[in-house]
Amino acid sequence: MRVSLLSILVTALACSAERPETTPPRSPAALAPKPPLVWSRFAEIQSWPVAGEPFTNLGHVGAGAEAVVRVSPDARAAYEHLVKDSELPNGTIVALFHELGPGRAGLVYVMEKTNGAWRFSSYHPDGTELTAAEPANASTAGCERCHADAVADSLFGLPRRWPQAAEKP
Ligand code: HEC
Repeated sequence: MRVSLLSILVTALACSAERPETTPPRSPAALAPKPPLVWSRFAEIQSWPVAGEPFTNLGHVGAGAEAVVRVSPDARAAYEHLVKDSELPNGTIVALFHELGPGRAGLVYVMEKTNGAWRFSSYHPDGTELTAAEPANASTAGCERCHADAVADSLFGLPRRWPQAAEKP
C-alpha cells in the first residue's frame, strides 16, 4: 500500500514537472498587498489657511483633543459666518484636522458637498482613507446622523465665544 501511494506521488510529480508552463509566474510585486492610496486632494487641502482659531474638539470623541478647520477658498467666508439658514455651495470641502497633542497630527474628518448632498469621509494623517474596519466613529452613517442636528446645512461651524457677563455694557 505504502509503495503504491509513493509511486502515484512520484508519477504525479513527474507529470507536473513535464507539463509546459501555461501561465507566466506572478511577479512578487503583483502578490504584495497594494499600499493604501493617498487622497489626491489631501496636500491641497492641507495648504488651505485655518478658518478661525484652533479649538478644543468636543464633537469627535477619541479623535484628538485639539482641532483646526480648513475650508475650500470659495466657501470659507460663508463657513466662518455660519447662520441658521446658511447653505454652502456645491464643491465645498470642509476638513477638520485633529491633533492628538502638540505637533502630533490626528485623524482628518472631511465633508464634501456634491449635488446638494454631503459626503463624509475620514483620513489618517498621511492622507490615506480609514477603512470600514477602523474605529466606529469613522462610520459615515454615524457622521451623518450627528451632523443632521447641526446649526445649518449639517455644519456646526466654529465654536462661538459668548460675551461674558463682565464684558456686557
Ligand atoms: C456625536 C456627534 C458627531 C459625530 C458622530 C461626528 N461629528 Fe463631526 N462635528 C461634531 C461637532 C459638535 C462639530 C463641531 C466642532 C467640535 O465641537 O468639535 C463637528 C465638526 C465637524 C467638521 C467641521 C465642520 C463643521 O461641522 O463645522 C467636520 C468636517 C466633521 N465634523 C466631520 C465629521 C465626520 C467625517 C464624521 C464621521 C467620521 C463626524 N464628523 C462625526 C459632531 C459630530
